[in-house]
Amino acid sequence: MLRSWWLVGLCIAYTSGKKLWDVPVSPEELANLGKLRWEPQCQYQLRHLQDGARISALLPPRLEGHWISTGCEVRPGPEFLTRSYIFYANRLFKAYQFYYRDPSCRDPTYSLVIKGKVRLRQASWITRGATEADYHLHKVGIVFHSQRAMQETVARINQTSGEQCNGFLPPGRTWTSGALYELLSAKAERDCTAGLGFAMHELSLVRVEKYEQPLLLQKNQGSREVEELYLGDIHTQWSERLHYRPTGYQRPLQNAVHHIHPCPACGIIYRADEHHPPILPVRPELPMLLSGRWVSSRCEVRPAVLFLTRYFTFHGSNRSWEGYYYHYSDPLCKQPTFTVYASGHYNLGGPSLVVRGGTELVFKVTQARVTPMDQATLAMLNSSDFGSCGEPGSWRLGKELDVTHTNGCAALGIRLPHTEYELFKIEQDAKDRSLLFIGERPTDGSSPNTPSKRPTSYQSPLIQCAGPSGTFLRHIKPNYLGKLEDYLNSAALKPRSRAFLLAVLAPLLIRWD
Ligand SMILES: *[C@@H]1O[C@H](CO)[C@@H](O)[C@H](O)[C@H]1NC(C)=O
Ligand SMILES: *[C@@H]1O[C@H](CO)[C@@H](O)[C@H](O)[C@H]1NC(C)=O
Ligand SMILES: *[C@@H]1O[C@H](CO)[C@@H](O)[C@H](O)[C@H]1NC(C)=O
Repeated sequence: MLRSWWLVGLCIAYTSGKKLWDVPVSPEELANLGKLRWEPQCQYQLRHLQDGARISALLPPRLEGHWISTGCEVRPGPEFLTRSYIFYANRLFKAYQFYYRDPSCRDPTYSLVIKGKVRLRQASWITRGATEADYHLHKVGIVFHSQRAMQETVARINQTSGEQCNGFLPPGRTWTSGALYELLSAKAERDCTAGLGFAMHELSLVRVEKYEQPLLLQKNQGSREVEELYLGDIHTQWSERLHYRPTGYQRPLQNAVHHIHPCPACGIIYRADEHHPPILPVRPELPMLLSGRWVSSRCEVRPAVLFLTRYFTFHGSNRSWEGYYYHYSDPLCKQPTFTVYASGHYNLGGPSLVVRGGTELVFKVTQARVTPMDQATLAMLNSSDFGSCGEPGSWRLGKELDVTHTNGCAALGIRLPHTEYELFKIEQDAKDRSLLFIGERPTDGSSPNTPSKRPTSYQSPLIQCAGPSGTFLRHIKPNYLGKLEDYLNSAALKPRSRAFLLAVLAPLLIRWD
């Protein structure tokens, strides 16, 4: 097809060497940023992203090397897993997938060893910045880590796979530690993987990014190179996942040599194999303290295909929320297309029974505003049907218009009022920053507007950039933070006392590495 894509790659390959603050942005963008009275850390985080964070994409991607998960991953279903993939120079690969019963990846059930060959093809026309690839599986082996895991898995294979897999394991076979069974063999033309919902379509869409992680502890002491491998996403609907060809990505793997530091899980995953699955370190369960401001940690991509960054504020005191969705046309989030502001209320439900470690919430979206940021979006909004998206004909570049009174904006798929059934999780990263995981959007582009469509996996995390009252509560332990937050938010606290408390606490709280 596109033979000249190497050249395209050369042209697109882009490294921004510019400093954070001296990148020119469009006047509209500046005006827009200026309107928000953000906390400095939140602004910093977003600017960092908008400048591409000195990220460069390797085009064509170089797969060769050893790539690992940086933590416990959650796939739709849910499935909890870690991955360790090795790509060789001769295009062969060996991939480990380690599956677990629990969301901390400490209780392994079975491990897969996947061997095959992958060949890069051309730049994707659907997902900008991605490369399409073909792959071929030679062998998939499975090792069970307990008798129970073996029984459950064999029953699943028995139920769903064809004749040839009925005898995959003889009935009554007892579990022996370390035994490897062949699930798929290209040579024997046998494939018993379907029952596990297993497919390697993730290899058909790849992207490699490289960036410098500043060594913040020792200022001015250079940086460390980080390489990330993005592989295709997994469909959120179980029944679709065996057929679905990815248009978005999963959480990236990192290069075992060039990964972000610190990463307590990396070494453990790197050293693991099918007989010694990684058992990740214990992590405290964090309460769902949403209050504060949260911002994207990277330019995010959604299937079929939107690039965006997100910025949310949650007010615990009155259960209200506000969110900005900054949309872009490019995978480094540098060319803005439009911004959506949405707000409403939320209700905290209980812990999820489907996805352990997650919390259920219900979100109501009652207000929305839209800002067109490029000519194409402007033209589209300006010519939308009367009453379907604000005032047609009154749209201007960089000017925000309310679309609440037209019940949203049909052209952008925004409908108001709107209810979504959500799944959230809060974690701490290795630098003690709070990360907020919000449920994955349904891959088919619909919205989780019924409880049965509630997500079972997560989008890439937002980083907390400001605490409940605008301060950044970084050096306070989680449970203490909770009490403090409740106290600061409590109606009983007079504004004067709150201001005083904050003034006293601020020097302790506001520190950013
Ligand atoms: C799998 O199916 C076969 C035939 O349907 C049956 O004989 C066998 O007991 C089943 N094995 C398990 C572990 O369920
Ligand atoms: C909720 O409270 C915050 C301050 O705590 C305030 O800024 C916001 O406007 C309130 N929202 C609503 C919908 O009442
Ligand atoms: C928007 O539509 C109005 C009325 O149709 C038209 O006069 C104006 O030129 C349009 N503006 C843009 C930027 O397309």
